Amino acid sequence: SGGLITIDPGFKNTGSCQSEITFLNGEEGILRYRGYSIEELADNASFLEVAYLLIFGELPSQNKLNKFYQDIKEESHVDEEMKKILDGFPKSAHPMGVVSSLTNALIAFNPTSVNVDSEEDMYKAIIKILAKFPVLCAWALRKRTGQPLDYGDSNLGYVENVLKMMFKKPSKDYEVDPVVASALNKLLILHADHEQNCSTSTVRVVGSSHAGLFASISAGVSALWGPLHGGANQAVIEMLEAIKEDGGDTKKFMAKAKDKNDPFRLMGFGHRVYKNFDPRAKIIKKSADEVLGKLGVEDPVLDIAKGLEKEALEDSYFVDRKLYPNVDFYSGIIYRALGVPTDMFTVMFALGRLPGWIAQWREMRLRKEPIGRPRQIYTGENHRAYKDISNR
Ligand code: SDX
Repeated sequence: SGGLITIDPGFKNTGSCQSEITFLNGEEGILRYRGYSIEELADNASFLEVAYLLIFGELPSQNKLNKFYQDIKEESHVDEEMKKILDGFPKSAHPMGVVSSLTNALIAFNPTSVNVDSEEDMYKAIIKILAKFPVLCAWALRKRTGQPLDYGDSNLGYVENVLKMMFKKPSKDYEVDPVVASALNKLLILHADHEQNCSTSTVRVVGSSHAGLFASISAGVSALWGPLHGGANQAVIEMLEAIKEDGGDTKKFMAKAKDKNDPFRLMGFGHRVYKNFDPRAKIIKKSADEVLGKLGVEDPVLDIAKGLEKEALEDSYFVDRKLYPNVDFYSGIIYRALGVPTDMFTVMFALGRLPGWIAQWREMRLRKEPIGRPRQIYTGENHRAYKDISNR
């Protein structure tokens, strides 16, 4: 179109949309969902309440929240045929790949939820994915542990039911530990939205072609999987374990993180927006002490994490680049204490981020945003004539 094109790798200085959902202030470490501070929501709200707030813009009355959860319960089943798709995966399949695939497969079993345009149809698709996604996440874990793929107990709350679906054993009933449920509730709230991060931008771009909510969420799961994004929570624990195995010498790993020739990064550190402490990391760090204390769990990697944080905050390489612990730095320590296997940590992140992805997709669709289609600056070959293969 002849207009000036500026290239902005990673969109570091590009805004993709206007949004009323989440406010971040990177300099001051502020995070708010629809104007409510993350600190207040984490301390007072239920995850489903926050999901409603993010998606529809207001904190629900008790009646609205009950209706919302009732609608979700009525959709909390997955077509039995879906188990055949799950059967096709080896036990070694990474749960993020399983969940992304199964989320896409939901389309085949819910065809009316694909190309929706009315708010009413959007609501139905939103209820379906909020209801079915946790089942798929729990099944991905149960497949790994050889447990039967069944359901939890719809008399429980949303978060309590996730725990039951994940951890109940056929042999005995599963009692939800209130400490565990409260810790997971808080973690899911803290992960619920984060404006235009990599996976949310992916959800918006896929949704902008009107591919439908389930396809957009599946794409968001794939984007979140990367170790530079949501996959970092798994990479942090693997890094902390490596430091522990190596005798706990954090200085060696700090040196590797600063060595330009070494691709190793201090996982769980740094952020595109927060150039101050990630407010979620502060809350999660405090919660880690509380939860492990209440559960009577001693985890040596917690002390290693704290030591690493202290060293980094006093190290000019990290201070100059404003690299602070982010949401992924301490979260894995809590997930581990809750009994979540390491390669399920990013699935837990996806469970938390689901309402945010939905809210952003809905806002984009209701605003009739144009299809995401950036331009480029061509730097390839000039025009040249075809050469017959005999002459090459
Ligand atoms: C999430 O965007 C979001 O909101 C994401 C998220 C959400 O809620 O959706 O908050 C969730 O993804 C948190 C981030 C999890 N990722 C990690 O912890 C992986 C480690 N972090 C880095 O890869 C990095 O900090 C990113 C990906 C988080 C941010 O990357 P940027 O903004 O593109 O920054 P950059 O790679 O350009 O780094 C700037 C400088 C570089 O050094 P110089 O070339 O300037 O000398 O800082 C260095 C980098 O080498 N650097 C690090 C580092 N992070 C950045 N050096 C060592 N260890 C690190 N972790």
